[in-house]
Amino acid sequence: MPGIVIVGAQWGDEGKGKVTDLLAEKADAVVRFQGGNNAGHTIVRDGQTWKLHLIPSGILHRGKLCVIGNGVVIDPKVLTDELEELSRRKVDTTGLRISANAHLIMPYHLLLDHAGEAKLGKLQIGTTRRGIGPCYADKAARLGIRVQDLLDEKILKKKIIAALEPKRLSLRPFAKDPRLDLQTMTEEYLTYGHRLEQYIADTTRLVHDQLDAGRCVVFEGAQGALLDIDHGTYPFVTSSNPVAGAACVGAGVGPKDIDEIWGVTKAYGTRVGAGPFPTELNGTLADQIRERGGEYGTTTGRARRVGWLDLVALRYAARINSLTALAVMKLDVLSGLDELNVCTRYRGAEGAEFEHFPYHQTVLHHATGEYVQLPGWTEDLSDCREESDLPPAAREYLQFMSDFVGVPTAMIGVGPARDAIIWTQASAGMAGAGSRAPASASA
Ligand code: IMP
Repeated sequence: MPGIVIVGAQWGDEGKGKVTDLLAEKADAVVRFQGGNNAGHTIVRDGQTWKLHLIPSGILHRGKLCVIGNGVVIDPKVLTDELEELSRRKVDTTGLRISANAHLIMPYHLLLDHAGEAKLGKLQIGTTRRGIGPCYADKAARLGIRVQDLLDEKILKKKIIAALEPKRLSLRPFAKDPRLDLQTMTEEYLTYGHRLEQYIADTTRLVHDQLDAGRCVVFEGAQGALLDIDHGTYPFVTSSNPVAGAACVGAGVGPKDIDEIWGVTKAYGTRVGAGPFPTELNGTLADQIRERGGEYGTTTGRARRVGWLDLVALRYAARINSLTALAVMKLDVLSGLDELNVCTRYRGAEGAEFEHFPYHQTVLHHATGEYVQLPGWTEDLSDCREESDLPPAAREYLQFMSDFVGVPTAMIGVGPARDAIIWTQASAGMAGAGSRAPASASA
């Protein structure tokens, strides 16, 4: 122990990459447990920019065990490209391990994701079109191809045939697509298998070994609570569970292996893709926040929708994740606004008020935020390194947030630089990896 889970507490893109990168420095292992290359983060360190979609950012710290767990869906082309890029830039990748049980995104998953969205027309979800949904669907239908299948040509071919059979009708428009040729597909995936073989392992056991030896393991979530397929704004969600409980399933550990759960949130709200967003802003203010915050997707480059901080949704996220701490990112982006709205209730179409996140899709789709206004601040925050360096109004904003949600804030992001972070008092008592002067992570 300890096991620390990092999850998104909003709609993804909260800055989990930066938080994980900072905690990974002190940890012994980093494990991804769900999602796929629909996620992506940019890490800036030593003047170099790294864009990673599948490999945990811990790989940039030499000698760290980096696991892609069984709950992740892997596009092997993306993974091999990422490995090549890291090797080209002289990053040691020997610490990477890939679960033999993780499922593979196949060429037909990509085609089906595109076709599914096209068919939905105006009702489309706005997926990343990376084949994530169709791959998880095959997993649940027990038609998935797993990483271990790459190591056996006969089994691979048999499983591809079985997976294609029920899709014949939906794949008919792509009948002539060379990517769907059985032989070509099998050969392509066997090549990936050769390339990845050295990394394939029983990752569950590796993670147990780390925890049993008292080492610090960071479980890195992708997306966010409100994109959770069970607890999010269904059907405008991703096809996995980005909540903390999924770290157990997607890495093969039990709930008692988890000591801390950090929820990453921005100081405001963003969302990409379609679906309800009760605190959404439009117009000049939205554009201003979007530009200042660089709110464009790492994976798809799409402009993100922007909104006020939604504390109804954040409190819900805190509850379904059992958050032990908040990491509040991009506080600096709000500098210069006279007044800041924070949403503490929703108002439904009929005028009813909602203190809790509404379970009903129709209610949520028409809900708008009811706000408390807090004073803004004008100071540039990027040089603040202690809570006491922050202007009083910024401290008040954070306090309001933390009190409302009932979770202490352990970390505050005040700028894009890696060291533009404030570790608060709350992080000091946490089990190891979080604090500025951590109890040795491997103690
Ligand atoms: P999918 O995960 O590609 O199927 O997309 C489903 C929904 O989740 C869409 O609204 C996407 O925009 C959203 N989504 C998926 N991954 C991320 C992410 O990493 N950040 C933010 N939104 C995401």
